[in-house]
Amino acid sequence: MQKVVTMKIELPRIPDIELVALEGLDRLSRHMGISEEKVGEARLIVTEAIINGLEHGGDVSPKVDVEFTMTKKELTIFVRDYGKGFEPSTVERPDINKKFGTGHKRGWGLQIMKSMSDDFRIDSNHGGTRITIKKLLS
Ligand SMILES: Nc1ncnc2c1ncn2[C@@H]1O[C@H](COP(=O)(O)OP(=O)(O)OP(=O)(O)O)[C@@H](O)[C@H]1O
Ligand SMILES: [Mg+2]
Repeated sequence: MQKVVTMKIELPRIPDIELVALEGLDRLSRHMGISEEKVGEARLIVTEAIINGLEHGGDVSPKVDVEFTMTKKELTIFVRDYGKGFEPSTVERPDINKKFGTGHKRGWGLQIMKSMSDDFRIDSNHGGTRITIKKLLS
């Protein structure tokens, strides 16, 4: 049978708390013999997803739940907040020209997560947002 490790953490909204999830991810990877190079993009995805949950979740999301499921071949990242939710189809696509100009410089998190994921799902409603991401590791 294929070896699987899972980890669930509940992160409170305090500064730099996403680092705790990254530390957990690193430990799982080492345990599974997965190189740092292969989890590099996964670390970025996890960071963006957690920060979005804590930042845009609103005052009603005092925490974010994070779950990792890892085999040697694949990592599933699940991030859930308890905020007000949003409608992903209405989010404006970021513009690289604006980023280097004087205008709006943000709005890259979702783009980065999508482009680096092998499967990316958002399920959001007024009770919060769940993001499920698959990342192939082999
Ligand atoms: N978990 C969430 N809950 C509510 N709204 C969200 C959530 N995640 C994203 N959004 C909405 O989608 C927008 C785009 O998110 P994205 O991460 O791409 O950009 P950003 O967080 O605004 O800026 P950046 O990630 O570049 O610092 C956000 O501004 C917010 O309105
Ligand atoms: Mg963001």
